Amino acid sequence: MRTLLANHPLVTHKLTLLRDAATDTATFRRLADELVTLLAYEATREIRLTVVTVQTPVGAAVGAKLADPMPLIVPVLRAGIGMLDGMTRLLPQAGVGFVGMVRDEESLVASTYANRLPVDLTGREVFVLDPMLATGGTLITVIGMLRDRGAAAVTAICLLAAPEGLTRVDEAFPGDFVRVVTGAVDDRLNDKGYIVPGLGDAGDRLFGEI
Ligand code: URA
Repeated sequence: MRTLLANHPLVTHKLTLLRDAATDTATFRRLADELVTLLAYEATREIRLTVVTVQTPVGAAVGAKLADPMPLIVPVLRAGIGMLDGMTRLLPQAGVGFVGMVRDEESLVASTYANRLPVDLTGREVFVLDPMLATGGTLITVIGMLRDRGAAAVTAICLLAAPEGLTRVDEAFPGDFVRVVTGAVDDRLNDKGYIVPGLGDAGDRLFGEI
């Protein structure tokens, strides 16, 4: 696994506002949306292109377009939905698949409750959206599902990451198949599996407590 820490000053500024417990839901949603667009700019740096020539009003220009097959974006329900608009704004041609994961609060083990992924992902680049890379259990499960379907490469975009989660994902997927792009690597996990200092429960802060 490769990790890219996208600590651009604007990312740090927006993340700091996002972390603040005084930030209300509407502002939190807007900041998450803006942050994913900034992170996606870094995350798509290696996206596959194909060379094309277009005719400008003045002459022929050699350029590039996204290569087929188009990438797939996979928000992990529930909190990943808060990152979907920001990502599709940048990549409107991409397909979208969904995985729903829920974490048992006692064991911290994540289980799958929804799977709307294409059966065949042969040759496709996949961008997984999950705001918090905590224990890594969710991400490892989702990446495994994508690899089993033939994905060419997986880039996970996470607003925040814990060192423990990064280590687990790296152990599960050594090599270049997986890349994690994150705005910050925090100190640690607490005994409830929350990132410290983190920002609390991302799903609750985006959509309210269940
Ligand atoms: N999920 C969250 O929403 N927050 C954390 O800190 C860890 C997992």
